[in-house]
Amino acid sequence: MRLAFITVAAVVSCTFAQPGLNIFSDEYIEFLNSQGLPWKAGRNFAKDTPLSHIQGLLNSLETSSSPPELESMYHEDNGEDLPEEFDARKKWSNCESIREIRDQSACGSCWAFSSSSVMSDRVCIHSGQKNQLRISAADIMECCDSCTDHGDGCFGGTAYLAFKQWVDSGFVSGGGYHSAYGCKPYPFPDCNPHCWVENYDAPKCKNECDKGSQVKYEKDKHYAKEVYMIISKDERQIQLELIKNGPVVAHFTVYDDFQTYQNGVYTPAPGSEPVGRHSVRIIGWGTENDTHPYWLITNSWNKRWGDQGLFKIMRGKNVCGIEDQIIAGLPQ
Ligand SMILES: *[C@@H]1O[C@H](CO)[C@@H](O)[C@H](O)[C@H]1NC(C)=O
Repeated sequence: MRLAFITVAAVVSCTFAQPGLNIFSDEYIEFLNSQGLPWKAGRNFAKDTPLSHIQGLLNSLETSSSPPELESMYHEDNGEDLPEEFDARKKWSNCESIREIRDQSACGSCWAFSSSSVMSDRVCIHSGQKNQLRISAADIMECCDSCTDHGDGCFGGTAYLAFKQWVDSGFVSGGGYHSAYGCKPYPFPDCNPHCWVENYDAPKCKNECDKGSQVKYEKDKHYAKEVYMIISKDERQIQLELIKNGPVVAHFTVYDDFQTYQNGVYTPAPGSEPVGRHSVRIIGWGTENDTHPYWLITNSWNKRWGDQGLFKIMRGKNVCGIEDQIIAGLPQ
């Protein structure tokens, strides 16, 4: 079933994007760089990467349609000037997690990574930059049943449901693959630029820590005080939330040219085709060359992807729906 869907999607993108160009070819990169875009394309993935690998990293299109059931946060706004540029890594420079770029491996767990990163950032920020706890992406991916359609967190999930579960049953600690940090480190190795063709399956949820962990599961649950979303498409509200409380989870539609991003301010090239929905972490904003407002965002495709793992996307125009579904919360 999955293969059939992927084949159809691949055909669609090859037919409508740039006639005859494989999106992992050098010609495609050259083509994009000849279009006068405000961003540069380059090679992030090996030439023989199948489109299904990129699709496998994303949430499925279907899961994006469910309407969020979180309360909205509204920040008092008296129209004061906001800074031209903001970077959460600088404002909260003692919070290590904000600087981290993760690697979700061959697994559609972007939603668990964006969520665990934002949760970890906020645990630190709201402890006066003292608590360096990392919330486990693995615990979210494996144990948030309500988050996934098919019970497998490697095939997409829903970040706002992960935030709800943060309030209700909490999550344990955990770092990257083989980090030996916390209760549940991530189970899969880094993989960009080379990886498996097929996604891994997420391990079954266990109410215990990994073998060898020094942490006791029952004592390692960390909860949220409240979780919420930001009023849709309101640029200033997103900025106020970032400045006041820290990084946020965002969602957007990935087009087939996005995988080539190197630097600059992303907006899809004309003729690009959607390949899926992605979940990422906004850590700031700015304006490149005084002309191109952007959101500063960390991806979870390794530091070797894009601009050392980060990208900028056009701000204020809801490009790819980036301002549609902003999720955040406050730790207990
Ligand atoms: C900003 O200027 C630099 C240098 O001219 C250029 O390479 C880059 O593409 C510009 N960025 C945008 C978003 O236009």
